[in-house]
Amino acid sequence: MIHLASPIIDDQEIDAVTRVMRSGMLAQGSEVAAFEKEFAATFNVGHAAAVANGTMALVVALRAAGVAHGDEVIVPSFTFAATANAVALAGGVPVFADIDAPSFNINPNEAAKLIGPKTKGIIAVHLYGQMAPMAVLADLAHSHDLFLIEDAAQAHGAVRDGLPVGALSDFSTYSFYPTKNMTTGEGGMVTSTNPDLIEAIRLQRNHGMLRRYHHDLIGTNARMTDISAAIGRVQLTKIAGWNEQRRAIAKIYDLHLAGIVDTPPVVENADHVYHQYTIRSEQRDAIVATCEDVGVGYGIYYPIPTHRQKAFARYATGRELEETDRAAATVLSIPIRPDLQQEEIDIVIDTITTGAKK
Ligand SMILES: Cc1ncc(COP(=O)(O)O)c(C=O)c1O
Repeated sequence: MIHLASPIIDDQEIDAVTRVMRSGMLAQGSEVAAFEKEFAATFNVGHAAAVANGTMALVVALRAAGVAHGDEVIVPSFTFAATANAVALAGGVPVFADIDAPSFNINPNEAAKLIGPKTKGIIAVHLYGQMAPMAVLADLAHSHDLFLIEDAAQAHGAVRDGLPVGALSDFSTYSFYPTKNMTTGEGGMVTSTNPDLIEAIRLQRNHGMLRRYHHDLIGTNARMTDISAAIGRVQLTKIAGWNEQRRAIAKIYDLHLAGIVDTPPVVENADHVYHQYTIRSEQRDAIVATCEDVGVGYGIYYPIPTHRQKAFARYATGRELEETDRAAATVLSIPIRPDLQQEEIDIVIDTITTGAKK
């Protein structure tokens, strides 16, 4: 079986966890503080605050951005449900925008059409590891006095037009779930170039408390453990190499699969980090059947757009999201783990080619 994704853990991570376990200090402490500093430095993102997972990263960022009951936040529908869940959990109303078909990311022109008197902000999701057009989105947000959040759960280390994730927004949020480009088991991070905004995250994640038992606002427990942070610190030393390997595998797929399926285009002047290598094909069912026969892992991210999910029926507007529906019907992600071997890459290419020609 060629697995779609699996965390890469070796003795360094195991030793780091053992070190923390032996120290007796398990909850948020010095490892988290070091991880935050090293994360901010590695990705050149200013300031960072670690949290329990990528969903809570979004929730605390939305709360720190001032989202209150009934505030509308524009989000893409074509993403993992966490993006819109976080808006609802923070008390806001998710308003779903269509994507730009080739990039799979939110279409700024579509987002612009949804701005109204209740709109408070926009979340861009860097889906599959390719950055959304942040300069255009930042102009849009600034011209309407909206906050801008980047959901970078799938985009550790992505760059566009020379600027890293986080350069043009209020907050960026990350996930360290085991299938992500780097992991801490479960975990998340919020970054900002504005230190005051990161202080607001520190309050939100710890019951509104900077000084023990002095609660300045209503917050939650979204803290990361030192055990997770110790894993993250080791993974940080490897992420650049892993992203390079992902890009190298993508190049091979591009070469061999172009013309057989729609390969994922990379926008000009951008470093895609290929959290997923996602093809599109009208022959998806046949390709899936062939993958199952051969034992090639695959994923459909996401088969049902968020705005069509039962949980979000209350936010229905009746607006059609044509590109979102089209993507949901045709996308297929194939293995692009950095530890994929050449013979496995060859098998994946053969399998997709055979399936597409059935
Ligand atoms: C785009 C996106 N946003 C948010 C999340 C939520 O992250 P987590 O699973 O760490 O809560 C994920 C992870 O699955 C994701 O892919």
